[in-house]
Amino acid sequence: MRTILFYFPGNEKLAQSLAEQTNFPLGKLEIRKFPDGETLVKILSDVQGQRVVIVCSLDRPDDKFLPLYFICKTLKELGASHVTLVAPYLAYMRQDKRFHEGEAVTSDAFAILLSGFIDRLITVDPHLHRHHSLSEIYSVPTTVLPAAEVIAEWIKVNIQKPLLIGPDEESGQWVKEVAKLANVPFEILLKNRKGDNEVEVSVPHVDQYHDCTPVLIDDIISTAHTMMETVKHLLIFDMQAPVCIGVHGVFAGNAFSNLKNTGVKEIISCNTIEHASNKIDLSGLISQSIE
Ligand code: R5P
Repeated sequence: MRTILFYFPGNEKLAQSLAEQTNFPLGKLEIRKFPDGETLVKILSDVQGQRVVIVCSLDRPDDKFLPLYFICKTLKELGASHVTLVAPYLAYMRQDKRFHEGEAVTSDAFAILLSGFIDRLITVDPHLHRHHSLSEIYSVPTTVLPAAEVIAEWIKVNIQKPLLIGPDEESGQWVKEVAKLANVPFEILLKNRKGDNEVEVSVPHVDQYHDCTPVLIDDIISTAHTMMETVKHLLIFDMQAPVCIGVHGVFAGNAFSNLKNTGVKEIISCNTIEHASNKIDLSGLISQSIE
């Protein structure tokens, strides 16, 4: 059975690399908005009897979700035998509990909706915190790809004497694994989030690491406040300018330039969301999982 690879606008580079590595042909589709704001999608390649892989990273998910549903539903109507969604960044994973009375638990609601129109989901390091596995909320088979090995390799090649720093407890799972693989020291801080744009991060203990390059690692950089608070502490302690690594560089609003302006040496992200900071390439990892 043949496999054909489609991609949602904004995922061109990753889709191109996946096509080259898997030899799957790239399918064509069109998405256009009617003047009234409704969306029309059109599948331009033959998918009859074929397995389809669609690459659509789910940052800024609200604008993508309905067109993605239309695409997947139409692919099935046109005869696709199986639809795998490659969403290197999986949205709506952070609201995994009702933090305040009356709030929606969107991680669960989103999972129910997405599971309703795809046959398989492949993603990279989803924000699993209170849920321990995607199968707790997704009813379709899921594959979680860990970026740690590729990040560790990048650090080994690019950073001299790194000291890894996880800005909060949740980042510990990634930081500890990368530190083990790269065989370097690490420290995990504590964070208190007071609001979307207000966080407190505990003071790092870096006395014996003045000759090291601090490397901040987190799964998501959204507003970048978590990173910026951590950077502030490090600069007070007269540490070298840090390198910030996000598995998923969401960079809401001016987050990228705001973080840059704190005096960091470099901001690096994996190519789960297309961005100028993508220096860590996960296409090899993803292509193995779809082959
Ligand atoms: C939260 O739990 C995540 O691991 C990140 O720390 C968080 O998403 C970062 O958000 P922001 O960049 O808005 O501080």
